[in-house]
Amino acid sequence: MQVCAPIVELRAARAALRGDVALVPTMGALHAGHAALIEHARTLAPNVIVSIFVNPTQFGPHEDFERYPRPIEQDLVLCRKLGVQIVFNPTPQQMYPPQRIATQLTTPALVGDLEGACRPGHFDGVCRVCCKLFNICQPQVAVFGRKDYQQLRVVTAMVEDLDLPLRIEPMDTVREEDGLAMSSRNRYLDAEQRPRAVGLYKALCQAKAMIEQAEETDPAAVEEAMRCVLRTHQLEVEYAAVRHPLALHPLDVIDPALTGGVVALIAARLGATRLIDNMVLGVG
Ligand code: PAJ
Repeated sequence: MQVCAPIVELRAARAALRGDVALVPTMGALHAGHAALIEHARTLAPNVIVSIFVNPTQFGPHEDFERYPRPIEQDLVLCRKLGVQIVFNPTPQQMYPPQRIATQLTTPALVGDLEGACRPGHFDGVCRVCCKLFNICQPQVAVFGRKDYQQLRVVTAMVEDLDLPLRIEPMDTVREEDGLAMSSRNRYLDAEQRPRAVGLYKALCQAKAMIEQAEETDPAAVEEAMRCVLRTHQLEVEYAAVRHPLALHPLDVIDPALTGGVVALIAARLGATRLIDNMVLGVG
């Protein structure tokens, strides 16, 4: 396994690979969710590149960029174990040299709401870094988790609209035994907060039962029920929404047959920690 830092080094290592490349972009602090993405990537192409880069441009000024975990040695051990060919681990200075004039990439129809509203500029940073990673690593396919549902939609839309020469492959969310979605930010939770964090999953299960069993058609009723479960777990709700599964716009009526399912999305806080989760409902 090669570990590359400057972009020229990565380009040379990439050029020496024979056959297709699957890219797994990450910010490190790798967990079983990332491992599932990497294992899936291995089935898609003979070569896997994992990028590990805590991307400063997607963090807001008061967010957790500084304290984001960076256990690089552990991450490299996992990548080696999973048979990764190349790890790309650049510094912010290598990715964003000083004096560089920034490009803005955005999908306005998908970013005005939900994460985009709570984290202004977040998806501009995600689009910019993903576009750079795609250009630098030149993969035929890149694997993204459904855990970050809006991100998956935004990146897929950008690739389609700009005719970028790669395919985006979605991967289902990997969960802890109690249902909590795996996340690098779960490391922030203390022993008192950890059991309460399952409230996000419980709220999504509540939405699932209402939509799939009780055939509830009023989005406001489902959203209020999700908020109620979150509050029961003493979680501070940022949003709890039922949306169109592709366009992410609000729905007047829940009719999964008409829209091809719906997606329930949640962002909630436990103290200083912000968690997100989602579930696609009403399909199959
Ligand atoms: P990060 O949060 O490290 O996530 C990297 C990838 O792992 C994303 O595609 C994310 O959706 C996926 N992932 C995270 N938790 C998961 C889980 N429990 N199950 C399945 N997949 C999971 O997302 C980012 O980094 C960044 O925004 C990035 C795309 C790397 C751009 O900087």
